[in-house]
Amino acid sequence: MNTAIYPGSFDPVTLGHQDIICRAAKMTDHLIIGVLNNSSKRPLFTVEERIDMIREVTKELPNVSVESFGGLLVDFARERNAGIIVRGLRAIADFEYELQLAQTNRTICPEIDTIFLSTSLDYSFLSSSIVKEIASYHGALDQFVAPYVEEKIRKKWGK
Ligand code: PNS
Repeated sequence: MNTAIYPGSFDPVTLGHQDIICRAAKMTDHLIIGVLNNSSKRPLFTVEERIDMIREVTKELPNVSVESFGGLLVDFARERNAGIIVRGLRAIADFEYELQLAQTNRTICPEIDTIFLSTSLDYSFLSSSIVKEIASYHGALDQFVAPYVEEKIRKKWGK
């Protein structure tokens, strides 16, 4: 069984994340979405809320599951017998950080490899931070997140 982990903060999950999830799910037997539970990042959504949104938007994908993790990503991957970490690359700006992360993880745990999927052009600019910025000014979000996620964001801002 070929298991992969797609880790991230997903605060909240965007259409860019969903694009990576759909494509990675086709390449693996089981894709585990690992939601980082780290209060020091001061997320807008609790880990339970983030998991709920991801479960909703991935409910049609039978080989995708969603879990939270704390601590090191490679420890989580080892515990789940996952040999692959999936990350999305949007632009060259992502590359330095992503390479550092991948190389650190491979140094700690050589049996787990990171693969990068290039983000679809439609979402190459998109991030959770951009979504939150637009939401804070009550801008339209339908091009950036699923309707269910948009509803949850609106509730957060009381609108
Ligand atoms: O979506 P993000 O916030 O860019 O995801 C970053 C994430 C969750 C992949 C990264 O912060 C992570 O793996 N954190 C867990 C701690 C860890 O293992 N760090 C890497 C070695 S320094």
